[in-house]
Amino acid sequence: KPTADQAGVAGTVDAAAGQPGAAPAQMTRDNGAPIGSNRNSLAVGDAGPVLLEDTTLIEKLARFDRERIPERVVHARGTGALGVFRATTDLSDVTKASLFATGKETPVFVRFSTVIHPSGSPEGLRDPRGFAIKFYTDQGNWDLVGNNLPIFFIRDAIQFPDMIHSLKPSPVTNKQDPNRLFEFFSGTPEATNMLVHVYSNLGTPASYRTMDGNGVHAFKLVDKDGKVTWAKFRLISRQGVKNLNGDAANKAPFNYLTDDLYSAIAAGDNPTWDVMLQTMTPDELGKLSYNPFDDTKEWLEVPFRKIGELTLNQVPENFFRWTEQSAFAPANLVPGIEASPDRMLQGRLFSYSDTQRYRVGANVMDLPVNKPRVPVVNNYQDGQLDTALANKKVDVNYFPSVLDPKTVDPSFAPTPYKVDAIARTAPISKTEPFDQAGQFYRSLKPADKADLVKNLAGDLGVVTSMRTKVVMVSYFTQADRDLGARLAKAVKVPMGEVERAVAEYTAAVDKRYAGQP
Ligand code: HEM
Repeated sequence: KPTADQAGVAGTVDAAAGQPGAAPAQMTRDNGAPIGSNRNSLAVGDAGPVLLEDTTLIEKLARFDRERIPERVVHARGTGALGVFRATTDLSDVTKASLFATGKETPVFVRFSTVIHPSGSPEGLRDPRGFAIKFYTDQGNWDLVGNNLPIFFIRDAIQFPDMIHSLKPSPVTNKQDPNRLFEFFSGTPEATNMLVHVYSNLGTPASYRTMDGNGVHAFKLVDKDGKVTWAKFRLISRQGVKNLNGDAANKAPFNYLTDDLYSAIAAGDNPTWDVMLQTMTPDELGKLSYNPFDDTKEWLEVPFRKIGELTLNQVPENFFRWTEQSAFAPANLVPGIEASPDRMLQGRLFSYSDTQRYRVGANVMDLPVNKPRVPVVNNYQDGQLDTALANKKVDVNYFPSVLDPKTVDPSFAPTPYKVDAIARTAPISKTEPFDQAGQFYRSLKPADKADLVKNLAGDLGVVTSMRTKVVMVSYFTQADRDLGARLAKAVKVPMGEVERAVAEYTAAVDKRYAGQP
């Protein structure tokens, strides 16, 4: 039986090759022609030059030279696995999305990742962790491109390149530098909630199996009658959430997260998550003290209900083919699940498919890991590495046509909604940045609080600018006074300076509320 990897490319794989006892296969060039030497180049005599006419050598080096594709601009270091989502709850009261029929199984590919560090980096480095899921549904692929943490640093996509520049290595020294990232965050108070999460031990998970996943943004669910319900998704690890402290993470083996995932699945210990849903009606949104479309906030007061189970049960046969070339995009939505006005999500709808057309190529969606498990019917064509031969049998590549009629069903159009507002560049309403960060700190056990202070002080302590340190501590103080005082002591900033920064911040906010610039 061909594996998923071989499906659709029958004839290119010799089933006997690589099997014990099978006759060794004759090696060929890429044109299929047999070669006579794979160890010795075509050289003139014993001490003469190697010849350019050695096409076997030239092709071998040329193919090798092109083995790398650009790494992901973020989330470059990752590992993936295949599995299945099983719906446990009928959700037809809130969404027409076809995968949520009780008992229905949908294949998935999941990729876990770090965010900032490059593809060849140790897996123990502190970071949020990506938890991206591709559901191959019977109405197309739905990608839930989430993280292990429930919130994010910033709330508008226009800030994303600046934030990533501050977190990535310096363009001058090529080293990640706390001076740069905290200088950025000292102008970004809304990041406080994410920072207390990342610098807690959640930033160094014990394994990918022992972390939760979060869709982070709100999504718009739509039922068959067009009724809208707002929703957030979360995956709760059945293995329990387990983390390392900073010291243990520093000592963790280079590949410990990938090794753990691969060996658990090989041993049949398949990791499972309960997939959970939070929902709110449009009327309920306005009652929250924060903006429901602000991804720096959790919907803390909204209960979860279980809607399914996700199990990983197979590691990919080839890392590059599946994990490296996988292309997750928040724009990959299916009927019944639509975008919310969250300004981060809106930017992400563009960014992922755009980078993937550059990183992998225009035909990225034809690769086995990305290909929908349903027919794709449109008039897109050509581009580099076009293998969609099926589309070439007729010469109708336009719409409409009576010769090759295709159709669209208006029930799949985006749900109409009313917009009555001034288009402008202004912040969202209800921007209060510290409240949930304080709630998170107070929810930690004493040992986890101490680790958070130690982890934060480790990076903030090396910052040379007193202004940056004071402003950062003033934000943590506004989240929780105990956290602020402990940090101030650990990074040696006078509490008087911190109090002054708090007062300045409050005065500036008061001014803004009074309608001044
Ligand atoms: C990967 C952009 C915010 C989670 C990526 C990639 C880009 C990107 C360009 C690389 C994609 C690729 O090469 O295939 C952005 C932008 C953001 C944003 C512009 C804000 C406007 C977020 C947020 C989350 C997130 C809020 C979590 C909820 C991920 C994950 C991946 C990723 C998990 C890796 C997907 C994989 O495993 O291939 N992001 N991102 N990103 N991003 Fe974001």
